[in-house]
Amino acid sequence: MPRLIADRPVLSMTSELGKVMAAARAREQAGERVMHLERGEPDFETPPHIVEALAAAARAGETHYPDQRGTLALREALVAKVARENGIPCTPDDIVMANGGTHALFLAFQALLGEGDEVLVFSPHWMAIPKLVAFAAGARMRTVPAYLDLLEGTLTPDALRARLKAAVEPRTRGIYLNSPNNPSGAVLTREQLAAIAEVAVERDLWVVSDEAYEHLVFDDARHVSIASLPGMAERTLSVFTFSKSYAMTGWRAGYMVTPPALRAVMGPLLAFYTTHGVFPSVQSACRAAVIGPQDAVETMRRAYQERRDLLLAGLAGQSAIRVPKPRGAFYGFANVSGALNGRDVWSLVDEWLALGVAVLPGTAFGPEYGDWVRMSLATRREDVVEAAVRLKHRYAAVGAR
Ligand SMILES: Cc1ncc(COP(=O)(O)O)c(C=O)c1O
Repeated sequence: MPRLIADRPVLSMTSELGKVMAAARAREQAGERVMHLERGEPDFETPPHIVEALAAAARAGETHYPDQRGTLALREALVAKVARENGIPCTPDDIVMANGGTHALFLAFQALLGEGDEVLVFSPHWMAIPKLVAFAAGARMRTVPAYLDLLEGTLTPDALRARLKAAVEPRTRGIYLNSPNNPSGAVLTREQLAAIAEVAVERDLWVVSDEAYEHLVFDDARHVSIASLPGMAERTLSVFTFSKSYAMTGWRAGYMVTPPALRAVMGPLLAFYTTHGVFPSVQSACRAAVIGPQDAVETMRRAYQERRDLLLAGLAGQSAIRVPKPRGAFYGFANVSGALNGRDVWSLVDEWLALGVAVLPGTAFGPEYGDWVRMSLATRREDVVEAAVRLKHRYAAVGAR
């Protein structure tokens, strides 16, 4: 038998989400009710006008090989969108469609990271990042804890600048940033982003800005794109997706705005030879999403905000689980040190599964988060409420034991 799996560390990396989902499924198959707070998948349907646009485009024959960068009609609509909403000036040549934000990030790291290069990743970070970085042969990442301190107001922009500056080493090439942040719900302010931008300019670093949750901000929080700050467009690769804003996870459609220096590499080489672009009918539907009514986006945003409030209210009155109030995205990142009693976080995840509450261990989001779990709000409202009821019942009775 030949050895089928190559000897590359990335090919032995495992998925915490896959593990929890399999355990949740096994319990459901045994007849138990499980509240799915582990997945990051909107439970809403894609708005009908977007679905109709796909059907019409397919019937009209938009079924052939696409321009690997994306159709010009869509890229023109996206140029207007990023100028209007994100303050990023660009031309259609600076936009590349990808098969979701995941694929865009894969391409970004392929383009930016070489042998021995390092990217600094603010943490807690989305769990796919270590894998996406590791696919770039010989590259490595290092975490810089930031979002929780920013969310809780304990890190000033000056202190953030100093922390980031201290982390930069000679092999550091760039920074990966994600606001609104999965999993903490932190939304970086203009001042905080300016502090990061200052270090990027001073140390000549690139920035990959993952803005997957750009439309999901709560209360008075505002989404700001770092590429809109002075001197940043030429060093920032901004990644967006249709998945979260429009409940289009299965469509696999995302895009990036890249500095002109990447034009020759991103479309003709990386997009072409990984997927040869995105199904053209899907792109027509994406155009309908961008230029059409945005009321569905607002309805979903409000629903996530309401679920956040329900989760926090439901957990009030116990002290074993503490959730810093998320300002965006659709997760609560919960400190569970009061519930762990020195145990490994996986043992708590298993215990909660037995209660019917599926969550992800904080260690999926960075090695520093063994005292945390992520609770997703992209699940049915009644499941969020019931999960909080069960957890409160479990911990209110015993206090912060
Ligand atoms: C922070 C972050 N970035 C990017 C993505 C990519 O999503 P997709 O590949 O569906 O566009 C996700 C999805 O969960 C995410 O949480």
